[in-house]
Amino acid sequence: MNNPNFVSMKKGHVLVSGGAGYIGSHTVVSLIENGYHPVIVDDLRNAHEKILSGIKKITGKEIPFEKIDVCDLNSLKKTFERYPFEGVIHFAAYKAVGESVESPLKYYKNNIIGLLNILENCISFNVQNFVFSSSCTVYGEPKDVKVVTENSTIQKANSPYGNTKQIGEEIISDLVNSKKSLKAVNLRYFNPVGAHPSANIGELPIGKPANLFPVITQCGIGKIEKITIFGGNHDTIDGTCVRDYVHVMDVADAHVKALNWLEKQERDSIVEYINIGTGKGTSVLEAIRFFEDISGQKINWEMGKPRPGDVVEIYADVTKAKKLLNWEAKYTIKDAVKDAWRWEKKIKND
Ligand code: NAD
Ligand code: WQD
Repeated sequence: MNNPNFVSMKKGHVLVSGGAGYIGSHTVVSLIENGYHPVIVDDLRNAHEKILSGIKKITGKEIPFEKIDVCDLNSLKKTFERYPFEGVIHFAAYKAVGESVESPLKYYKNNIIGLLNILENCISFNVQNFVFSSSCTVYGEPKDVKVVTENSTIQKANSPYGNTKQIGEEIISDLVNSKKSLKAVNLRYFNPVGAHPSANIGELPIGKPANLFPVITQCGIGKIEKITIFGGNHDTIDGTCVRDYVHVMDVADAHVKALNWLEKQERDSIVEYINIGTGKGTSVLEAIRFFEDISGQKINWEMGKPRPGDVVEIYADVTKAKKLLNWEAKYTIKDAVKDAWRWEKKIKND
C-alpha cells in the first residue's frame, strides 16, 4: 500500500547493493519515502525473495532488482550502464564475526572484492556519492572508554570480518585522497535491531542466529529453548554486557540523510566517518526484561561464560551524526523490541 506521508519530490537513481538484506531492505523503503529511485543489486545469498514483495507491500512500488554478484565486475558494469546513478549505498557483504574467524578468505574475498568492484564502477561512471556500511567493530575493544567518538583510536580488528571493515574504510580514504572525484560517508553502525513497524520486512537470519535480538525473539516464539547470557560478572550495571541497540528504521534514515548531505557538498573529494547509534547503552538482562514486558512471554535463560572476543561495554557518541546529518535516533529500544517481536510472530505464520 502507498503511504500517504511519502514525500513526492523527484530524486535520482541509487544503487543499493545488498538491498534485499536486513538493513538494505529498510533503507530501500526510506529511499522511496524520500523520493529516490533505488535499484537493488543482490544475489540473494543471504536474503529471501519475499523481502522484495514485502518492500512492494509497504511502498506500493516494484523496485528494479538485479540478481548480481557484486564480485562479478562485468555484470556490475552492465547495471551501471543501464541506470544514471546519482549515488551508491554499499551493503553487500558477509557479516558473521564467528564465521569470519573460521573462513577468513571467504570474508576477504567477498567484502573486499565486492567493494573494489563497486568503487571501480563509481569512478568509471562518475558516480560521486558513496555511502559505505561500516561498523562499530572498527573500534575493537576500546581502551578505558565505553562511549566512542569517531576520533577514538581504531584498535586492531578482533576478527577478519572487522578487518574487512577497517580495510574497506582505508580503501575509500585512499581513493578520495588520490583526488578521484568521490564523496564518501562511512556509517559506523552500532547494533541495528527491530523491523519495519508494518512487519512486512525484517531480519531473516539464515540458520541459527548469533545476535542477541533474533536469539531473544526466537526463544520467545519457541524456536530456541534457552538463551545463554555471555557472562554475568562484567563491570557493568548488572554484570552483563552493554550495547547500543539502534532501530533499523533509524539506521535506514541515516543512509538517506548521508546521501542528501553528500549531494550538497561542493568539493569533489570528501570522506567522513559517522557513528550511528542511540548514544545509550542497554545490558543483556535489560533487553531480556524489555522483551518479557512487551511480549508477555517468559524467557528461559542461563548465565554462561563470557564469549571470547566480546567487548564488555560500548556505545556511540552520536554528536557528529546530529551535527553533520541532522540525524538522531527517533525510535527507542522498546519500539525495536515491539517491532522485532511483531516480525517474529509474522514469519512464524508465513
Ligand atoms: P544481510 O546479510 O542481511 O545483508 C547483506 C546482503 O548482501 C544480503 O542480502 C546478501 O544476499 C547480499 N550480498 C552479500 N554478498 C553479496 C555479493 N557478493 N553480491 C551480491 N549480494 C551480496 O546483512 P545486514 O545486517 O543487512 O548488513 C548489511 C551491511 O551492514 C553489511 O555490510 C554488514 O557488514 C554491515 N553491518 C551490519 C551490522 C548488523 O549488525 N546487522 C552492523 C554493522 C555493520
Ligand atoms: C550483543 C550482546 C553478547 C547472544 C555484533 C558484531 C559487530 C556488529 C554488531 C556488524 C553481547 C550478548 C548475544 C547470545 C548473549 N555487526 N549475547 N547471548 O557482539 O555487539 O556485535 O553485531 O558489524 O561487529 O560483532 O552483537 O547481538 O552478537 O551481541 O549474551 O546468545 O548480547 O555477549 O553482549 P555484538 P550481538
